[in-house]
Amino acid sequence: MSNINPTENQPHAESVSGDVQTVASVFVTTRDGQTHRLEAQPGLSVMEIIRDAGISELLALCGGSCSCATCHVYVDPELASRLSQMSEDENDLLDATSCRKHNSRLSCQIRFSDALEGLKVAIAPD
Ligand code: FES
Repeated sequence: MSNINPTENQPHAESVSGDVQTVASVFVTTRDGQTHRLEAQPGLSVMEIIRDAGISELLALCGGSCSCATCHVYVDPELASRLSQMSEDENDLLDATSCRKHNSRLSCQIRFSDALEGLKVAIAPD
């Protein structure tokens, strides 16, 4: 696990303890247990939002083509019902991981929209 604070030197990520609010936000908990509020642009995938904020522990090796599962996150159940239905490919990839949970999703398959404002996800273990 990295000791790097992903909020350092990154204009798009800020600690939850900050007071600045953005219009649209996604909250991401990294593997060190820290939660970060990220600016979220509708139309981007949650993986892209995390990657563009400079959080490098979400590898997203296939670039969002649903073929690697290195963008695995756990979604807070509060907004999980608003997510699009999981495809068979996503389901199969998650089955191949060792740490799947009931709230597992591939973040590249979650398209952010205003309906997902305040979405909370945690990056799954390696
Ligand atoms: S980035 Fe590869 S499956 Fe999501």
